[in-house]
Amino acid sequence: MLVIAMDGPSGSGKSSVSKGVARALGLRYLDTGAMYRAVTWWMLRQGVPLDDQAAMAARAGEPVLSVGTDPDAPSISVDGTDVAGPIRTGEVTGAVSAVAAVPEVRRRLVALQQEIIGTGGIVVEGRDIGTVVAPDAAVKIYLTASAEARAQRRSKELTGASVSATQADLARRDHLDSTRKTDPLARAADAVEVDTTSLTLSEVITEVVRIAKG
Ligand code: CDP
Repeated sequence: MLVIAMDGPSGSGKSSVSKGVARALGLRYLDTGAMYRAVTWWMLRQGVPLDDQAAMAARAGEPVLSVGTDPDAPSISVDGTDVAGPIRTGEVTGAVSAVAAVPEVRRRLVALQQEIIGTGGIVVEGRDIGTVVAPDAAVKIYLTASAEARAQRRSKELTGASVSATQADLARRDHLDSTRKTDPLARAADAVEVDTTSLTLSEVITEVVRIAKG
């Protein structure tokens, strides 16, 4: 059962690369960021104050997530509601790092991720996959790219977002994600770093598939 851990900061290309690698190798695909976004969407909808860690911790066990792992049709729902669209709004993006810093939220989502990983070969993307969620993964990749390249890619996806505003948002989230106390964004000691700044998507997929085939 092949597990590929794909970590890296926002805009490094994790989602597109992970889906491409999963397709190329016939594996499933899990977007753990979507799970943190789904819990964030639920907390906002419930009116849980996001500056109150204890309030978020107390409710962390309530939302029921359902996650589909087909790389051609990834899906996510909370309490039976499809949230694939709503979890990509600016409101959720702005709030997700605060929710992802709550240890009780992480404990629950990490357990769910490990349950999904346990049922077969998969490419898993996130921030703490090689270090915490799947430390025994056979293949660990850490994707990077320059801050400018990451902001350019992300602002292309978000119509109307300026590159400079996007770069500021990514820097803010990178800082929050890498300095939080529980499971911060980190490169596992045994991860292979792939700098995607000057590579095309298909070049990165080819490189990761080559690493995975060893
Ligand atoms: O796609 P993007 O880079 O914008 O972010 P994402 O992968 O959707 O993740 C959204 C947020 O979830 C991150 O900024 C982290 O705060 C959090 N996250 C996390 O803490 N641990 C993970 N394994 C995945 C995401």
